Amino acid sequence: MKITCIGAGYVGGPTMAMIANRCPDIEVTVVDLNEERIAAWNDPDLSKLPVFEPGLDQIVSEARGRNLAFSTDVNKAISEANIIFISVNTPTKTYGTGAGQAADLKWVEKCARQIAEVVDHDVIVVEKSTVPIRTAAMIKSIMSAVGKGDKVKVLSNPEFLAEGTAVEDLSEPDRVLIGGEDEAAIQCLVDVYAHWVPRERILTTNLWSSELSKLTANAFLAQRVSSINSISALCEETGADVDEVARAIGSDSRIGPKFLKASVGFGGSCFQKDILNLTYLCDYFGLPEVANYWKGVIELNDWQKARFAQKIIKTLFNTVADKKIGILGFAFKKDTNDTRESAAIYVCRDLLIEQANLAIYDPQVSLEQIIADLEYVGITDARQLAEDGHITKVTSAAEAADGAHALAVLTEWDEFKELDYAAIHETMLKPACLFDGRNIIDRDQVTAAGFQLYSIGKGEAKEAQWEVR
Ligand code: UDX
Ligand code: ADP
Repeated sequence: MKITCIGAGYVGGPTMAMIANRCPDIEVTVVDLNEERIAAWNDPDLSKLPVFEPGLDQIVSEARGRNLAFSTDVNKAISEANIIFISVNTPTKTYGTGAGQAADLKWVEKCARQIAEVVDHDVIVVEKSTVPIRTAAMIKSIMSAVGKGDKVKVLSNPEFLAEGTAVEDLSEPDRVLIGGEDEAAIQCLVDVYAHWVPRERILTTNLWSSELSKLTANAFLAQRVSSINSISALCEETGADVDEVARAIGSDSRIGPKFLKASVGFGGSCFQKDILNLTYLCDYFGLPEVANYWKGVIELNDWQKARFAQKIIKTLFNTVADKKIGILGFAFKKDTNDTRESAAIYVCRDLLIEQANLAIYDPQVSLEQIIADLEYVGITDARQLAEDGHITKVTSAAEAADGAHALAVLTEWDEFKELDYAAIHETMLKPACLFDGRNIIDRDQVTAAGFQLYSIGKGEAKEAQWEVR
């Protein structure tokens, strides 16, 4: 059995490494057009892997050279495979019809066309990338158009791994979802996962349910975060504590405790993209009420990010111009180097528009990445700002704090919980403010050190608001 995966990104790389690791009898080849990325996957120095995930280095090192290979020879890998995973990027479209909303499927289509051109044998094509419902129909018609409809069976097998916990999620998934029409093809993929996933956790459905389940899962998860974030704002006005509310409601087994952590806003490559895609599909199918319902999840998230930046500006006497602000964390969550749609990008943008000087510390994110992200959201002179010292990437939280008016925790890296806040406070300008966008800071400790602390959803009820409404 030979498996090929097209796309060596955050999904393709770790997923294939796990398949190879758990299935020594299957030869797995991951291909990508990006030579630099493939070289990094092949680098003997495992710290250079292009995706940072705890535990991934070990999974890769055990399988690489045995039954796991990374290559740029896409055609060869396609021609030899029994199963081909399509795991390329499907970002939000930036042009033409559906710009800013629909998923851009040009890379998926290119892969499908390349497979159609190259294969001359029976093969199973698996959609791993997150795609709009009915994408499998497009792949099938491309195969049929060149007379290969009978040779190529199409399955949907969305990936539910979350970044930062990819290895854990892949080794013990809550479920594996396989959608398809051809029983033999479905069984073949079930057998791959059954090497390590209990059979009862491998769900099979029709193609369209599988495609739609991925978008729906992400929409539901994002909705929970927006729901608790909406309540965080009300907590701040009324004296309630959002973490206490989350605990209280999460203890109801119908609601459950996960994904109720209030924050500066959700980020990541999936939530926003997938909800935008969902709303586009709803509008397309004449369901504007459904589209609007889900749009609210994104609007609330945008508001939460803006609200946090505004809180910083207001607290610093309505001006941050020329003030140093230390930014702790730039990745969209801890334990990843991924910054896609990170709330930090938008908070930093809003502060830079107000002419703040930012000293950014993140253990995994490079200055180049920060500049690229800020340019993308409209800070077109980000590189110049970095050259002039208005944006600096520093190597520790202490350095970010030194001489700063404020610190803002934007990613929940564990190390930020354990900082010596008393020592840090001494090096800062007074009043020294700490804005905790992740609610990870110990209030007693930092207030004892002298900080003025703002946390998400931790209100101090104001006298005027004590009246019952
Ligand atoms: C998500 C889904 O969880 C995963 O199943 C899917 O395959 C891809 O999209 P990911 O984006 O990697 O995974 O991370 P996730 O852990 O879901 O976090 C997304 C964002 O929500 C992060 O910015 C995180 O900080 C934020 N979040 C999450 C909260 O603010 N509060 C929470 O309670 C949970
Ligand atoms: P994801 O988070 O979904 O894994 P990434 O952007 O991290 O997305 O990775 C997708 C990868 O797919 C990129 O490395 C890109 O170079 C690769 N890719 C896109 N189109 C093709 C193609 N036609 N052939 C090979 N690789 C491709």
